[in-house]
Amino acid sequence: MRDLIALYRELLDAYPPGARRFLNRYGATLGALAVFDAAALALLALVIGPLASGDTVTLPVIGEIGDAGVLITIACIVILTLAKGAASVWALYWATRQAARYELELGMRLFGSYMRAPWVSRLSKNSADIVRLTDSSVNQSVVGYSMPGATLVGEAVTLATILVVLGTAYPAIGAVTLVYLGALGAMLYFWIQRRAREAGRVNIRTSLFTSRLITEMVGAMKELTLRGKNAQIEQVVRESRTRTVKARANAQFLSQLPRFVLEAGIIGGFVLVGAVGFATKGVAGATTGIALFGLAGFRMAPSVVRFQNVTSTMANNREPARRILDEIKDSEVARAEAEADTDIPLPPSPNTLQVKDVTFRYPTATTSAIDNVSLDMPFGKTTAIVGASGSGKSTMVNLLLGLLTPTHGEISVDGIPLSHATTAWRARVGYVPQDVSLFDATIAQNVALCWDNSYDPDRVRAALAQAQLLESVEDRDKGIEARVGERGISVSGGQRQRLGIARALYANPSVLVLDEATSALDTATESAVTESLRSLHGELTLIVVAHRLATVRHADQIAFMRDGRVVARGTFEYLVGEVPDFAKQAALAGLV
Ligand SMILES: Nc1ncnc2c1ncn2[C@@H]1O[C@H](COP(=O)(O)OP(=O)(O)O)[C@@H](O)[C@H]1O
Ligand SMILES: [Mg+2]
Repeated sequence: MRDLIALYRELLDAYPPGARRFLNRYGATLGALAVFDAAALALLALVIGPLASGDTVTLPVIGEIGDAGVLITIACIVILTLAKGAASVWALYWATRQAARYELELGMRLFGSYMRAPWVSRLSKNSADIVRLTDSSVNQSVVGYSMPGATLVGEAVTLATILVVLGTAYPAIGAVTLVYLGALGAMLYFWIQRRAREAGRVNIRTSLFTSRLITEMVGAMKELTLRGKNAQIEQVVRESRTRTVKARANAQFLSQLPRFVLEAGIIGGFVLVGAVGFATKGVAGATTGIALFGLAGFRMAPSVVRFQNVTSTMANNREPARRILDEIKDSEVARAEAEADTDIPLPPSPNTLQVKDVTFRYPTATTSAIDNVSLDMPFGKTTAIVGASGSGKSTMVNLLLGLLTPTHGEISVDGIPLSHATTAWRARVGYVPQDVSLFDATIAQNVALCWDNSYDPDRVRAALAQAQLLESVEDRDKGIEARVGERGISVSGGQRQRLGIARALYANPSVLVLDEATSALDTATESAVTESLRSLHGELTLIVVAHRLATVRHADQIAFMRDGRVVARGTFEYLVGEVPDFAKQAALAGLV
């Protein structure tokens, strides 16, 4: 219980300002409504009995009341009940509105911190997890944890009121009821809590696993289909889903269980209270005891049940809420570290991009992916990075893009460290990855990277032309307004890469970084693309990673990498003359 409350408080801190106040008020309102409800019922009980038997009605404090008094009392009961109903609707309305708002804010806070977290911390996150956590887990945290948590106060107040009333009027029976229902409730609570929490844990673990699995499998659909692995995948998904649905069924069962146990328990309570009443005051004592317990028990039982329900719902949703808080903390810490001082402007036309004694090691790796590299890249020139796969080219590119920060050493533009000018630097570099990913929208939207119509069609066409793609796009039915299917299924691999290049060029970068971006193109297209990029020589600084040596033959300088080091650097001819490895590859490619 204590950890449920601690987590409740911690969640409050993650909500938008004002949430704490609202939830406290909401809880207090429900508590007050419960008191209203109890008062109306107590009045009703006091009036109905005597009325039925034709006795005079006696109210505590006020004393005997006449017919007019009875009418007034009944009017009070009606008004109390109606007011309670109206107030409950109002509270529910506000609570659901607020919950939706908290859900939105919490989700956006989580998503925003993911988006702005530094690249290294994002490397360790699975994209399917991000999708699930920012949507359904946030919902579970708000609707399944915080809101029920706030209602606990109301339930506690109901229980306490009934007990106090009962205890003042009939201390012995009050005490027995308290002990009996208390013991029953506590037993259920401890028994159910543990299992509900376990169910919640299994549920989030397996459902994250399933969504991950499905995302990854959709990505490899073609290979999987060809290998005839569909049945096997269905089996794996089924196993994981089985555990998820079992955990959910458990959670649901556990939340309903207390009702039945308590109903049975109340019958036991009749016997017990009756016996106590009989022992103390004979038959008359037994009858009043049973009557009172009936009233109190049936009034308290739903409240105990709801208390149970709420705590087991909370226990069940504890895990997602915990995950959300941890993720937010994680990403925001990383982000605060990364954003410490990143906003120095860069000179309008800088001279050199300088890599100095840079070493980089991935947090999970034991050896350095980049090992003490120094390299000067003059602006306006083309620098190529070549080397075997795994030699550290992509890592180098990510360092140059400022996505990764060197473990040692520094990358700077005319002496300004990239880490201090992240914003300015990002506005200048364009990047084309090895595997361009397209989204389900028009070609123009894919090029301009926007989800509405805020693009400039002329710039889109210019970018497409530079990427040697304009002709084939204009041949399509709707030109740049034509849609690309989901995951870019309706374009070929070569077209996809050229769309990626157009996308990078659309932003008018002064530095263009291509990481094996043209490797998938056929030789003719590749040379057309590199040719058109070369026409930008002088304006555009190119950093090209390629394994096909023909692509980089005309680069101003070539850096040859091996095992995270730059082992040689110079023009193509120089490297052929100086580095036997390089000469061999050039010979194999028929370039010398
Ligand atoms: N996210 C990562 N975590 C740990 N190690 C990585 C990660 N990415 C790459 N590496 C390792 O860093 C080295 C360089 O990889 P990479 O830069 O991708 O090489 P290249 O692009 O030249 O093929 C490899 O040994 C690779 O296994
Ligand atoms: Mg690579």
